[in-house]
Amino acid sequence: MKVLIVGSGGREHALAWRISQSQDLTSLWVADGNAGTSQFATNVPVKPDDVDGILASARSLPVDLVVVGPEIPLALGLVDRLTALGIPAFGPTRAAAQIEASKSFALEIMRDAGVPCPDFHVFRDQADALTFLEKHSGPLVVKADGLAAGKGVSLCQTAEESAAAVRDCMTSGAFGDAGKTVVLEEMLTGPEVSVFAFCDGERISELATACDYKRLEDGGRGPNTGGMGSFAPADLWSPGLAEEVNRTIMLPVVQAMAERGTPYHGVLYAGIMLTSDGPKVLEFNCRLGDPESQVVLPLLESDPLQVMMACHQGGLSKMPVIWSSKHHAGVVMVSGGYPASYETGFEISGLDQEDEDTLIFHAGTAFEQEGGTSRVVTHGGRVLTVVGRGDSLAQARVRAYDRLRQISFQDAFYRTDIADLETTERVWPPGPAATGRS
Ligand code: AMP
Ligand code: GLY
Repeated sequence: MKVLIVGSGGREHALAWRISQSQDLTSLWVADGNAGTSQFATNVPVKPDDVDGILASARSLPVDLVVVGPEIPLALGLVDRLTALGIPAFGPTRAAAQIEASKSFALEIMRDAGVPCPDFHVFRDQADALTFLEKHSGPLVVKADGLAAGKGVSLCQTAEESAAAVRDCMTSGAFGDAGKTVVLEEMLTGPEVSVFAFCDGERISELATACDYKRLEDGGRGPNTGGMGSFAPADLWSPGLAEEVNRTIMLPVVQAMAERGTPYHGVLYAGIMLTSDGPKVLEFNCRLGDPESQVVLPLLESDPLQVMMACHQGGLSKMPVIWSSKHHAGVVMVSGGYPASYETGFEISGLDQEDEDTLIFHAGTAFEQEGGTSRVVTHGGRVLTVVGRGDSLAQARVRAYDRLRQISFQDAFYRTDIADLETTERVWPPGPAATGRS
């Protein structure tokens, strides 16, 4: 099969690495990729959001499958346009991608299907939202309805904070059109788990799980980022919880999407909070996570292209998806100053050593020619994810950090507590005194 991957981050490097091992692969391209993807694939200079450019590349190469990494081309309808041209694609249609592109859409699906989620109210008019807040003084979560690159969520303790967050979205236009509608949600508490399922429109695969770290600094301090690290499988997971999440969340949502005439094909990613009342959904994403892909794709034992074609064609019942339970920990190295402003163009050293217990996935990297030689330089805020694997999470973590310390570039920054469960309090279920749950 000739395959084109759309995207340029660590997730897409992990996809390229895993797809390059498929027995069905003959040629691989990535649009537009990074220095890491060029080890397995030919990078095509077309931006992931340039739907017309991706369509033109998919036709001219030509390819047998397009694998779409990020949410924006999915929400722009890339899969619909490819399907119209007869080119198979892995990922949901524009209508099904609404599960991520509109938080109110996802919440309404969940409410109608009886899926556990926070109580919520949707406002399209700022005055209505502010009137509501006059009568609701407690903590609330204010969310821009649309895609806001992970930045549209404010956790507010008071009505004043909530009102300010509403105004930011609706008047100041902090998130553009994404903030024209806001969702006010009940604030839940509990540890979080990311859950992934391959879906073929009707059926879902065995679940894969991971945890990610969104804040910049150790201990969960500092600003939100696109993710500073991850590990898989998730701790606090069990066969009983998998059964409950499948029965109460994943299957009813996939069924509801099919019943609406917008069947879900691709990876469905549920961000779940383990509350004292059981698992509840904080968000759905219409794709694999980043940096979760970098620790989840190494667990995929089944042939990735066969799984993706089964998702496209509705064939998951004949294609069991097998996940390994080997522990993986991934630490993200970022440019100093990220997620605000940062400099790029710094040489990255220490990438060469091969090591079977670690993997290095690139994101913001590029090749720079100097004289007759080329070197890898930083080219974005999120630079690399260094992954360690092991028989225990502790071993995976030590291997990731040992490998990371051999890599350097000017102003590199990373968290030191990724996958360190000794310093992170993650307990679930809560003690019997805290809950009526048996
Ligand atoms: P989202 O983009 O919806 O996943 O939200 C980003 C982060 O905000 C989540 O990973 C949670 O840590 C937090 N969050 C979102 N919704 C809620 C909620 N209803 N209650 C508590 N925390 C939330
Ligand atoms: N790791 C969070 C995301 O990919 O949205």
